[in-house]
Amino acid sequence: MSVVIIGAGQAAAQLIDSLRRRGYANAITLVGEEGLPYQRPPLSKKYLAGELSLDRLQLRQRAYFDEHRVELRLGCRATAIDRHAKCVRLDDGALLNYEHLILATGSHPRRLQMAGADLAGVHYLRSLSDADQLRTEVHVGQRAVIVGGGYIGLEVAATLRQLGMEVTVLEMADRVMNRVVAEPVSRYYEREHASHGVKIELGARVLALQGDTGGRVCSVETDRGSITANLVVVGIGVLPTDELAQQAGLSCDNGIVVDDYCRTSDPAIFAIGDCSNHPSAHYGRRIRLESVDNAFEQANTVAANITGTPTKHDRVPWFWSDQYDVKLQIAGLNTGYDRVVTRGAAPGPVSFWYYRGETLLAVDAANDPRGYMIGKRLIEGGKSPAPALIADPDTDMKALLTA
Ligand code: APR
Repeated sequence: MSVVIIGAGQAAAQLIDSLRRRGYANAITLVGEEGLPYQRPPLSKKYLAGELSLDRLQLRQRAYFDEHRVELRLGCRATAIDRHAKCVRLDDGALLNYEHLILATGSHPRRLQMAGADLAGVHYLRSLSDADQLRTEVHVGQRAVIVGGGYIGLEVAATLRQLGMEVTVLEMADRVMNRVVAEPVSRYYEREHASHGVKIELGARVLALQGDTGGRVCSVETDRGSITANLVVVGIGVLPTDELAQQAGLSCDNGIVVDDYCRTSDPAIFAIGDCSNHPSAHYGRRIRLESVDNAFEQANTVAANITGTPTKHDRVPWFWSDQYDVKLQIAGLNTGYDRVVTRGAAPGPVSFWYYRGETLLAVDAANDPRGYMIGKRLIEGGKSPAPALIADPDTDMKALLTA
């Protein structure tokens, strides 16, 4: 009778905590190919900038796992799941039996597929070792070219710029952060980066990376010409890590398919965090989320389900991004919006409110924690203030919560 968790990230750390808090007394084994669980978000921000120590990056210290009676199998990969025998095989030959298996395998960066993509000096940013490697190559006055103007690309651009590098971002779409935000928010961020001296090229096609005689990247070829680069960072999205689940015959479709209870197509196996694809009753469709919040909440849901309190996972998600001194907080998902109402103006607090018809879907708030908090509570409560009220600077926002 035991729980085996594969993947030692944020979701796993929270699951362990939640299981023990709920009185789960049986064995827990944590399998992970890296070290102790740590926070990934600071890797592109404070950790990269050298403002956060490794100690503070870690989610739990080693003593925590002893105290909570967790067997750690770190530096180890799970290579196969035998669903019939209910056991997991590790790359060191060990076999772990489970009553409940939790896949918390996360996601991995989409790779650039072109000539020169494997040259030295071409970085991805997902793991602690990626960040450590990148840090060693940051030099004041040198040139960094970032491929992809999404969360990773823009956060790294801001950090490298603050560290004194010359930075160019190449984004293939006609605006930055197009996957997650609407045009006014993209424009807000493009202006922010321009004001810090970061060059953003929109609609740019990267054709190849060129290396010097030592095999290190020295320039990036685009459809508009060549750009000198001392290093390149690629942030072109992530893919769910679901190979193990696929090999085990679990249903997968843009992630490991789970039900309302985070259960996969095998009731003894759950999937949580970036790797899972779950139904959202709130949004009426399946979603796969890449966020700390989702990892945390799905972990709590699974802990409840394992300890005998059947619980559905259905939350309004939230996200954040830090670039320079702008904190973006996002509540909800904007998919299907037909209107965006802006409240406030830079350099003060600004929030962007997404509507479909008269229904409020999501709020993006830049340096506006109050707007974010009120928006999140409105969405969670299924309340949709008239867009004209949001646009009116005289509206008492707090009163909307009780209206
Ligand atoms: N050239 C230039 N830009 C590209 C290319 C390409 N070949 N391919 C994709 N892009 C752009 C996309 O248009 C998009 O703007 O890269 C951006 C990727 O943005 P995201 O999907 O946000 O992915 P990324 O920035 O890699 O972040 C992945 O990491 O921060 C975490 O969980 C967070 O979801 C986020 C994940």
